[in-house]
Amino acid sequence: MSHSIRKIIFPLGGMGTRLLPATKSVAKEMLPILDIPLLQYAIDEAVNSGFEELIFVTGTNRSVLEDYLSPSPKLNTLLEEKGKQGLLNKLHEILPPSIKATFVDQPDPKGLGHAVWCAREHVAGENFAVILTDDLIVSETPCLKQMIEALQPNMNAVVAAMEVADADVNKYGIFDTNHQDGRCSYACDIVEKPSPTNAPSRLAAVGRYILTPAVLNAIESLKPGAGGEIQLTDAIAASTNDHSLCAYRFEGTRYDCGSKEGILEATLSLALEDENLKAIVEKVVASRKAA
Ligand code: G1P
Repeated sequence: MSHSIRKIIFPLGGMGTRLLPATKSVAKEMLPILDIPLLQYAIDEAVNSGFEELIFVTGTNRSVLEDYLSPSPKLNTLLEEKGKQGLLNKLHEILPPSIKATFVDQPDPKGLGHAVWCAREHVAGENFAVILTDDLIVSETPCLKQMIEALQPNMNAVVAAMEVADADVNKYGIFDTNHQDGRCSYACDIVEKPSPTNAPSRLAAVGRYILTPAVLNAIESLKPGAGGEIQLTDAIAASTNDHSLCAYRFEGTRYDCGSKEGILEATLSLALEDENLKAIVEKVVASRKAA
């Protein structure tokens, strides 16, 4: 599968403070949902959506992430000797050989817009995507693939969107929408983490973006925004005309795996898809009810 958008940025330089102390020495992208790290779910979504180059923007966690993504001959030999072909296959599938991996440093965590800016040389002049690994999206068709199919020539950006509760609008980029056409709500603005009283809607951005060079150019002149950070949201807003921003209501379920509640919900939901694990969940629930 191939399309004209070949590159995708993974901003991985965040500190993961919401998940301390676990993230004190473990990169948040390596936290597992069952036995698969969050990073791997995002890689699989990108690969299954047809991306060919994955650009990892890393901070102090670079060596851990590079270790995960590099082949480990010693471990491979050990698994071969023990005849563990299934596990060996899983390791080979971490990053398919046809996929190019590029590493970029983000020296200081100055925000999502800054992370994308750090990768600018690698995506200059072409459309590209951004994926946030702590937003796990489980769907029939990969969310990014749905969004690529939604991109029209008149759009500057397609951003994954979902309705959130009033009390939660201050955790998200919130769209100011004009009109809806199928899954796409055309937006004239997007505001980062507004207060519930100032929020233009309850339609929130979640961590999937298909972006054009106009958005990248807009980052250059940005001043720090919400939280004192260089916000990707502000660059999207600065490069948006009335009909050029598509808030895309994806098909699928999103889990906020930057929070323990989201990690629990994702873990239980995926466990219930597996007969053995489902039996364990049911056993625990039944034993609590009986107590
Ligand atoms: C980031 C974006 C925000 C978006 C959110 C989705 O915020 O800045 O616009 O709504 O991801 O998860 P963060 O959660 O990194 O503070």
